[in-house]
Amino acid sequence: MNQVTHPALHLEGVHKRFGGTHAVRDVELSLRHGRIHALLGENGAGKSTLVNMMSGMIEPDEGTIMVDGRPARFRTPADAQREGIRTVHQELELAPTLTVAENVLMGQLPRRFGIVDSAKAMRQAGAVLSELGAGIDPEAIVGSLPLAEQQLVEIARGLAARPKVLFLDEPTAALTPPEADGLLERLRGLAAQGVAILYISHHLEEVLAVADDVTVLRDGAVVLATEVSDTDRPSIVRAMLGADPLGSQARPAPAAGKGTSVFEVQDLRSGRSLGGVSFRVAAGEIVGFFGLAGSGHETIADCLYGSEEHTAGHATFCGEPLPASPIEARQRGIGYVPADRKGAGLALGLSVRDNILLANWSRLARAGIRRQGMETERAARLASRHAVKAGSLEAQVSSLSGGNQQKVVLARQFSGGETPRALLLSEPTRGVDIGAKAEIHRLMGEYVDAGGTCLVTSSDAEEVAALCDRVYVLSRGRILTQLDSNALTASDLTAAAL
Ligand SMILES: Nc1ncnc2c1ncn2[C@@H]1O[C@H](COP(=O)(O)OP(=O)(O)OP(=O)(O)O)[C@@H](O)[C@H]1O
Ligand SMILES: [Mg+2]
Repeated sequence: MNQVTHPALHLEGVHKRFGGTHAVRDVELSLRHGRIHALLGENGAGKSTLVNMMSGMIEPDEGTIMVDGRPARFRTPADAQREGIRTVHQELELAPTLTVAENVLMGQLPRRFGIVDSAKAMRQAGAVLSELGAGIDPEAIVGSLPLAEQQLVEIARGLAARPKVLFLDEPTAALTPPEADGLLERLRGLAAQGVAILYISHHLEEVLAVADDVTVLRDGAVVLATEVSDTDRPSIVRAMLGADPLGSQARPAPAAGKGTSVFEVQDLRSGRSLGGVSFRVAAGEIVGFFGLAGSGHETIADCLYGSEEHTAGHATFCGEPLPASPIEARQRGIGYVPADRKGAGLALGLSVRDNILLANWSRLARAGIRRQGMETERAARLASRHAVKAGSLEAQVSSLSGGNQQKVVLARQFSGGETPRALLLSEPTRGVDIGAKAEIHRLMGEYVDAGGTCLVTSSDAEEVAALCDRVYVLSRGRILTQLDSNALTASDLTAAAL
């Protein structure tokens, strides 16, 4: 039988250039039925570009694509979909004003007498979501959900189509460990039914646990291709970086809460997501808020930034009431990195330079004229400090790889004349590779050691454990417990959240 002898999808001699960037160089890759294939590499290595070519988003400049041994040409995503290929993209491709069910079943809504059968749609979508272990209401409007739940909706859409070949580009970047485990289990089940799966992730432990085959890209070329059982973590990391990784050094934790109070919050409430939380964060601390999707931790930063309606028994920032709006928050020195970089963090049509300087044009302007030279110099310095890999400062942000876009959002927080008094970070290193992640953690450490204050909400337990001095664990809109640095491991956090 064809399916057994031929790979589900095979690439040979594939190249892709964007202007001066040779993003994919002479790549050969085979995805086999019933196997999970991990595709790894640093930010900008060419992973998403490869996936985009295999899913018909863009065409290769050179090379061949074979489906079950037959040459194929994908001019559009529809061509790839006709071959049973489905993609869960790195940047979410959801329709925010439609319901969860409409998004999950997009293009295949059940009909009766030509009319959408919405009761059946709700049932079908609900079934796919619950197979993923996600208790999301199929009638909810997608734009109103926290990022992690949106990510689960995107994954559910990929699964609902019963694909033969499935690409997942960083599907777990906003998921907590139990949610990610649920997904991985589901993927193993699909592979057992013969589906060929390509899996991209910066979480190496997860990859090693689930994948059968692994391909590592560096600067667009394949530098390692083997079965997972024939390699190990250090070899993979060395292949990714082309060198041994720098060890990230743990920062000595400050005495908890000894510094001046920056945020003091009592009985903070917001709609259905926060049911009264109280906490205190002092200068010099990195404090984490952790929980499973929908447990309310996602909302805390929005409330402190004045972008989400809330009430509080008593809440202050530097002794004054909390800011009433994001504009006021910025004026009072609060920086904010939202979880959804595409929706809220970046002006995709603008250059890297302008995105880094975005919040601060007014301050740099003198007599209404933007001082170009100074701005460019400042943007260049921040881009290199945050390890942003871009063709040039004038490149459009939309042309950067996902991880490099995230570094731009972080760099922007420091582009003002003054250092922010507090930084609110939501999923700060989502999609950032391991080397750049360690570097960003080091920068955050320097920032608080110089008197700054940092609040982190993240679903990445490893990250929270490595970065934070203390962590509040939330469930159903309330604080369950507080863990401090000497009891802070990823597994403690996950156990507490459950
Ligand atoms: N549309 C585009 N125009 C110009 N350059 C592009 C475009 N798309 C990708 N690139 C460039 O191609 C290279 C590979 O990008 P790609 O998005 O494939 O990286 P990646 O491996 O997915 O990284 P990440 O882990 O950050 O998601 C990068 O240098 C990127 O800037
Ligand atoms: Mg990518």
